[in-house]
Amino acid sequence: MPKKLKIGIVGCGAIGSSLAREITLNFCKTARLTALFDIQPEKSLLLSKKIAKSGKLRVSDLDSLIKKSDLVIEASSVQAAWEITRKSLSSGRKVMVMSVGGMVGHLEQLFALAAKFNAQVFFPSGAVCGIDGLKAANIAGVQRIVLTTRKHPDAFKGVEYVVKKFKLAGLKKDKILFFGTAAQAVKYFPQNINVAAVLGLAGIGMHKTKVRIIASPGVRKNIHEVLIESNAAKIFTRTENILHPQNPKTSYLAVLSAIAVLKQILRPIKIGT
Ligand SMILES: NC(=O)c1ccc[n+]([C@@H]2O[C@H](COP(=O)([O-])OP(=O)(O)OC[C@H]3O[C@@H](n4cnc5c(N)ncnc54)[C@H](O)[C@@H]3O)[C@@H](O)[C@H]2O)c1
Repeated sequence: MPKKLKIGIVGCGAIGSSLAREITLNFCKTARLTALFDIQPEKSLLLSKKIAKSGKLRVSDLDSLIKKSDLVIEASSVQAAWEITRKSLSSGRKVMVMSVGGMVGHLEQLFALAAKFNAQVFFPSGAVCGIDGLKAANIAGVQRIVLTTRKHPDAFKGVEYVVKKFKLAGLKKDKILFFGTAAQAVKYFPQNINVAAVLGLAGIGMHKTKVRIIASPGVRKNIHEVLIESNAAKIFTRTENILHPQNPKTSYLAVLSAIAVLKQILRPIKIGT
């Protein structure tokens, strides 16, 4: 019988907790959750107690988690993501990265490390649709990609770039907060804009992918529209995300997209581009 894939999760918040539950419930024939790590130890302990009925899955540092895992799932923060990915790859582990924005500025190293240690890195599409078409169209040549993100003004609370430049309290109509490259968007909106980073990676790069961010008092959902002009097709997608039941900052589809990637890794038949 083939060995079960040992999975460790870094970050036990909304995404990490959902993935931990899913692995134990629905992937138990082919995978095993072996470690949980969070910089807030009470979170990994609580999750371990829920999943394993004891604290045995919790580890006290990243190195211990890497030792116990074949696949490391990063579900922590944009700031921590690169260090977690770098260390895991350097130990020859597979990595799934949720905080994709954290890879900006490290892409050359990322590709070099993955090649050197023969390791694989997975970036789920997250809360946006159109990555499949973009990957295929990019082979024939893509001229333009524009991501337009609309969120309720409350979603930008505490975002330094916005606080310094705009007053969003009492906003009555749509306000464009930003138009620029994906690389800049990731810098100014690190918590909000992993989708820009995924699009940049899948297509024509962080500096050619354009991003527009709009505060929209009329919307309750996070909406991502993607326009792609290419030699193969003109593509337009619109994703109206429902918020995650446990974390209103995260889109539900982002969590499900990571589960779908796990299916691609663990099941013999791979569907979609
Ligand atoms: N790819 C996408 O489309 C997408 C969508 C939503 C969220 N995300 C990203 O996924 C990540 C997790 O999202 P979430 O909603 O679960 O967030 P969350 O705030 O619910 O949970 C994050 C957890 O990570 C822990 N953490 C932070 N830094 C850490 C570190 N250095 N080491 C270990 N643990 C650490 C925190 O204590 C927290 O428990 C975030 O970075 C978020 O930006 C990506």
